[in-house]
Amino acid sequence: MERKIRQPIVTVCGHVDHGKTSLLDKLRGSSVQSGEAGGITQKISFTLYPLKQLKKACPLIEKSKVKLNIPGFLFIDTPGHAAFTNLRKRGGSLADLAILVIDINEGIKPQTAEVIQILKHNKTPFIIALNKIDNISGWRKKDDDLKKNISLQPTNVKQNFDEKYLTLIGSLNSFGFDADLFYNISDFTKKISLIPCSAKTKEGIPELLMMLCGLSQKYLSDKLVLGKDAKGVILEVKKEKTGNYVEAILYDGEITRKDEIAVSSFDGNPEISRIRVLEEIEPLSFKFKPKENVIASTGL
Ligand code: GTP
Ligand code: MG
Repeated sequence: MERKIRQPIVTVCGHVDHGKTSLLDKLRGSSVQSGEAGGITQKISFTLYPLKQLKKACPLIEKSKVKLNIPGFLFIDTPGHAAFTNLRKRGGSLADLAILVIDINEGIKPQTAEVIQILKHNKTPFIIALNKIDNISGWRKKDDDLKKNISLQPTNVKQNFDEKYLTLIGSLNSFGFDADLFYNISDFTKKISLIPCSAKTKEGIPELLMMLCGLSQKYLSDKLVLGKDAKGVILEVKKEKTGNYVEAILYDGEITRKDEIAVSSFDGNPEISRIRVLEEIEPLSFKFKPKENVIASTGL
């Protein structure tokens, strides 16, 4: 029987304002960040990211002729503000993979350190988006290819860049991680990849997606085989006049509208409930659509 592969769940995490939502906006072709209150993310949100968009945002996939067996990604955006430790923990525990976003000009900040500990605790594989390279003094985009782009920067700018990422590698060492620029790494199970990028100029975005695809296919394949039983995590309960809604992520299996669900309650006993309305998130959108059945990974 053919094994069905679900989307890897990719959590985007890091310190406040380092550019998590902006990077996701660039991947989606959306502008969520500018609509947020104070430009600050206050809840976990999810985006179903189909193969078609992946190929569009990452022309390297078609060019390199790699055959993708993942059906896309389910991205999770998390808040970086100090107040949201709980949500970061929840986002971190859901992840098959994570993108840790670090502003290259700021390096490791308190919530970056917090996230590193969460990822370490959950043994979540992660890559680092070294964001805001466009803010490095004198930086100009020189080429579509990131490695070439970096090598073509004027000497003083390149030195500045080298200093920043080497300092970061040093700091990551103190957390017990070995890291390097992605194009210097041969064994991705031993070293954490740094992908310099900009959510403003889109530099490094195709390389970031390429890394996610490569790691997913190479190291997560077995973990991504779709199971039979539906399993999910509730992110939020909304009480409305017409009933209670839960916003959840289905991370394995298939669920139909006629199913019963069991929700663990605070006293440890499961609450059994019938589903009345089943709605799934639409690709690249925050809108939900009624469905008869849905398959992981997805947002409900
Ligand atoms: P929280 O969700 O509140 O933790 O923040 P965030 O990590 O999602 O950061 P957000 O995307 O809201 O970006 C914060 C600010 O940095 C915004 O003003 C963005 O426009 C800006 N920004 C993000 N990425 C870049 C980048 O690559 N270059 C530059 N110059 N600015 C960026
Ligand atoms: Mg945000």
